[in-house]
Amino acid sequence: MPSMIRRVKGELYVEGISLANIAKEFSTPCYVYSKKAIEENYLSYVEALESQSHLVCYAVKSNSNIAVLQLLSSLGAGFDVVSIGELERVLLAGGDPKKVVFSGLAKTEEEMSRALAVGIHCFNVESQSELFLLNKTAKMMSLSAPVSIRVNPDVDAKTHPYISTGLKEDKFGIEIDKAIEVYLRAAQMPNINIIGVDCHIGSQITEIEPFRDALKRLISLVDKLSESGIKINHLDIGGGVGVRYQNETVLSVSDYINELLPLLKGRSETLLLEPGRSITANAGVLLTKVQYLKHSETKDFAVVDAAMNDMLRPSLYGAWMDIQPILSRDELIESAYDVVGPVCESGDFLGKDRDLKIKEGDYLCLFSAGSYGFVMSSNYNSRPRSAEIMVSEEKAYIIRKRETLSDLVRGEKLIGNDHDFKN
Ligand code: LLP
Repeated sequence: MPSMIRRVKGELYVEGISLANIAKEFSTPCYVYSKKAIEENYLSYVEALESQSHLVCYAVKSNSNIAVLQLLSSLGAGFDVVSIGELERVLLAGGDPKKVVFSGLAKTEEEMSRALAVGIHCFNVESQSELFLLNKTAKMMSLSAPVSIRVNPDVDAKTHPYISTGLKEDKFGIEIDKAIEVYLRAAQMPNINIIGVDCHIGSQITEIEPFRDALKRLISLVDKLSESGIKINHLDIGGGVGVRYQNETVLSVSDYINELLPLLKGRSETLLLEPGRSITANAGVLLTKVQYLKHSETKDFAVVDAAMNDMLRPSLYGAWMDIQPILSRDELIESAYDVVGPVCESGDFLGKDRDLKIKEGDYLCLFSAGSYGFVMSSNYNSRPRSAEIMVSEEKAYIIRKRETLSDLVRGEKLIGNDHDFKN
């Protein structure tokens, strides 16, 4: 259990507030984040990198609520975005465009123009075609586009195949062996300004070797580029370390950085990182209410009011996330429950075979839900998306209102006489 979330006399608290009170006041399902945990997690990178020129660009995709971005921006964070939507969120939250890197393999001309207009730090370019379009777009705007090429270093991140990105067969980046060729071509483009080398090998990585191998390969590429007269200012090593969901042995941020720094000794490049999960995952929980307990011959089910549309990770990746009652009930008999949601799919579950002492109406807390939680939620089964709450000490702030039923049909239209199609 992360330190900002504690059990006091049988009751779960985030910072100074009881989660039972939050559930009652704001209803469920509802995401709750600890401001202090986000701050501490971000600062653990900054502190470990004190002796190294660096830029920590929080991966907005992991939790893009503008209050979260505002908090990180106030601490000096940069941002890694993958769409114009994420870029606009950063700007709305007061983020500094000069500290923004733009990743993603399908950037459109519209996205490029907007990012060029606001003056982002760097485009992480993933293909030759993207490079051509960026050069053309920058030319039309009489600007120069700062660029890193995202190389695919072909290292095995030893993580879930859906979130491994640095193997030859993955769709991301440019094969490292072909990278020099692409850099040489980029160097000929009048509206491209080469400033970095980038990679991202995957997410939820719990071992140092894949990161170390990737950084070594980037450094050797930078040295080869330098021989060809191409100077690189920064090395971007991609996402951060994996987090503990169950009982995994994970790398601490300081151990991770301390393992990488010797490779950069005596070098002048700035180290750029794009951590997401390690900043927000364990700073957040999802609260849900037990609607019904249902017993069949072979199974006990706890039917709760949160579903795969609220938290997709267990259904999509088979991810294990801890589930505990908000109030301990030692008087009840423990049963092994499948904790399932109301969505009409058998794949809709939050956890399986969980030993719980619960009764109908109880609240449950799903841990490590601050990253890839709300951001992956949907309206499937016409379910309004949940509220998001930020706790700071004894105060709770609504940072996203629960959607209403009218939000569900916003923008939809019945077919009538007046129609929008033009032939
Ligand atoms: N940079 C790039 C280019 C990325 O694609 C990602 C994550 C990150 C940074 C941040 O990585 P992190 O520090 O969070 O490990 N939905 C999945 C995770 C997908 C990760 C996608 N890329 C999940 O729930 O596990």
